[in-house]
Amino acid sequence: MKDAFGIPQSLLVLGGTSEIGLATARRLVARRTRTVWLAGRPSPALDRSARQLLDLGAEVRTVAFDALDPESHEAALGKVFAEGDIDMVLLAFGVLGDQAHDEREPLNAVRVAQTNYTGAVSAGLISARALQAQGHGSLVVLSSVAGERARRANFIYGSSKAGLDAFAQGLGDALHGTGVHVMVVRPGFVRSRMTEGMEEAPLATTPEAVATAIELGLRRRSETVWVPGALRVVMSALRHLPRGVFRRLPV
Ligand SMILES: NC(=O)c1ccc[n+]([C@@H]2O[C@H](COP(=O)([O-])OP(=O)(O)OC[C@H]3O[C@@H](n4cnc5c(N)ncnc54)[C@H](OP(=O)(O)O)[C@@H]3O)[C@@H](O)[C@H]2O)c1
Repeated sequence: MKDAFGIPQSLLVLGGTSEIGLATARRLVARRTRTVWLAGRPSPALDRSARQLLDLGAEVRTVAFDALDPESHEAALGKVFAEGDIDMVLLAFGVLGDQAHDEREPLNAVRVAQTNYTGAVSAGLISARALQAQGHGSLVVLSSVAGERARRANFIYGSSKAGLDAFAQGLGDALHGTGVHVMVVRPGFVRSRMTEGMEEAPLATTPEAVATAIELGLRRRSETVWVPGALRVVMSALRHLPRGVFRRLPV
């Protein structure tokens, strides 16, 4: 169960090596979280992630999870929920892709869409059902400002995040009043493995700042969290720009 401040005792991170996911897990373990499940593709990095949280005093378990294999999701997530209640599921997996390359190789673009969108539809629905059966818990979904308005420079990733974002909002409405809370998190440019070597966008932030915003969102039971918060206003303005103007912006 979460404590009176909304901090979960047990956490499941889907995308167990994600830098944002791990920063969030570290922050929550430093509060009151005791049990962490890291779900991801088996790798030395997944083992290292588990050890990092173990060293902080958490009880950590890993489970094999591949977003691109939705048929395996029931079994993988079923195994986790069968071991006990999960107070928070963090949907942290995703790939950025390489827009220019993926435009030329549509099957690569499909992988981006399948990982970020259909993989999340499957894992999100299964997690939501399990949380609903418990009668409590939060599903925290890492969306992105990229989904707010598709940009020429990354519309494949952006469209997958737009789909994910709309899905998570609808799921949140479907679960309203059930005791299960869905929180959509929209970070801007985060300095992580995903963006390594890329030119930084304005208002760039860190995995730790996203983790702090997630903790605050849990305490407030927010439905939408922007990181940094100023992006809410910036994106609201960008979203309403006429198409011809938006197209000419260097974004
Ligand atoms: N970094 C940013 O600027 C930024 C901004 C906004 C939103 N986000 C979103 O935040 C989330 C976390 O990103 P991050 O910055 O923490 O990036 P990251 O460190 O690169 O983490 C990405 C995670 O996705 C996992 N993943 C990729 N394909 C998978 C698959 N088929 N099955 C299971 N897991 C898979 C990776 O696992 P492996 O170790 O197996 O590759 C890794 O755990 C992503 O959804 C991303 O789109 C990031």
